[in-house]
Amino acid sequence: MSKIKPSKGAPYARILGVGGYRPTRVVPNEVILEKIDSSDEWIRSRSGISTRHWAGDEETVAMMSIEASGKAIADAGIAPEQVGAVVVSTVSHFAQTPAIATEIADKLGTQKAAAFDISAGCAGFGYGLTLAKGMIVEGSAEYVLVIGVERLSDLTDLEDRATAFLFGDGAGAVIVGPSQEPAIGPTVWGSEGDKAGTIKQTVSWDKYAVGDVSQLPLDSEGNVKFPAITQEGQAVFRWAVFEMAKVAQQALDAAGISPDDLDVFIPHQANERIIDSMVKTLKLPEHVTVARDVRTTGNTSAASIPLAMERLLATGEAKSGDTALVIGFGAGLVYAATVVTLP
Ligand SMILES: CC(C)(COP(=O)(O)OP(=O)(O)OC[C@H]1O[C@@H](n2cnc3c(N)ncnc32)[C@H](O)[C@@H]1OP(=O)(O)O)[C@@H](O)C(=O)NCCC(=O)NCCS
Repeated sequence: MSKIKPSKGAPYARILGVGGYRPTRVVPNEVILEKIDSSDEWIRSRSGISTRHWAGDEETVAMMSIEASGKAIADAGIAPEQVGAVVVSTVSHFAQTPAIATEIADKLGTQKAAAFDISAGCAGFGYGLTLAKGMIVEGSAEYVLVIGVERLSDLTDLEDRATAFLFGDGAGAVIVGPSQEPAIGPTVWGSEGDKAGTIKQTVSWDKYAVGDVSQLPLDSEGNVKFPAITQEGQAVFRWAVFEMAKVAQQALDAAGISPDDLDVFIPHQANERIIDSMVKTLKLPEHVTVARDVRTTGNTSAASIPLAMERLLATGEAKSGDTALVIGFGAGLVYAATVVTLP
């Protein structure tokens, strides 16, 4: 017989507030065209993207996270002291240790909240949301701050015509807290590590320490380049279109709802053609609002879903209480989909 008392969590969890931060600098396709042979028309028609935001020196991962989180905390109507855990999903915080989450938790004014980073690429928001729900139902935190934040402009090779136009910077955050009814469905998630090479960093950091320039990427003038994200665009595109629509359907089934019951669809903002294809495969009815934030935000990886959610609510295209399907997918390859009630 165990002597351990059972933990007392909430019956269910829900998203209570959302906030976003987009860097001030808006970068149109014309700027991307300075370094690659392409056209505004090609970029728009192949990806849907017309502008993205790039962070300035002051717009660090921590700064953008704090801005987005402050809004999410205010939107949830709680005080920073009530946040029991801070989960930051990012691939663009450049110190191996410590996690950026602890600095964010401190600067926000939490009371020594548990804080850690996760690396789950463009599925990072869904992974964080799933952890948050678990903590609340299990009872180790009453309110959890989940942040998706990226400065992908630091990891973009502007001379790579396969990726230069895709990525953007920003932060999105949500507060997850207790609920008396289900408001975050079961997560359908997973990984396909056999495809790990399809989205990856050009060179690992340790190669820079060796100082052997022959192992490092060089720009057109022969200067050593910072590592960048590289991908097999077509392979990723096919995987996203065929496999992720199935995962999205499984998330609907797991939540016990049909496409007709949905109000909003917020897929990872990677490419508008992937979004269109998923809408078609899932046979989403006309009344479902589809997030197309990619057009003016680009792909911000872990930040993309909360940023898109924030914008839909801010513009009135979606409203509090709406039922939304969210799905993230990317480097790993990893994915996570769930149905949520919007804050
Ligand atoms: C990157 C992506 C937009 C490229 O579109 P695509 O239709 O697959 O393009 P392809 O690589 O097949 O290239 C098609 C043609 O366009 C050309 N092309 C490639 N990049 C180009 C560019 N930036 N501008 C103009 N032409 C370009 C190619 O050379 C090729 O020409 P060819 O037909 O004469 O050989 C697309 O593959 C994609 O979005 N993939 C998924 C990206 C993604 O979501 N990644 C993150 C997941 S989290």
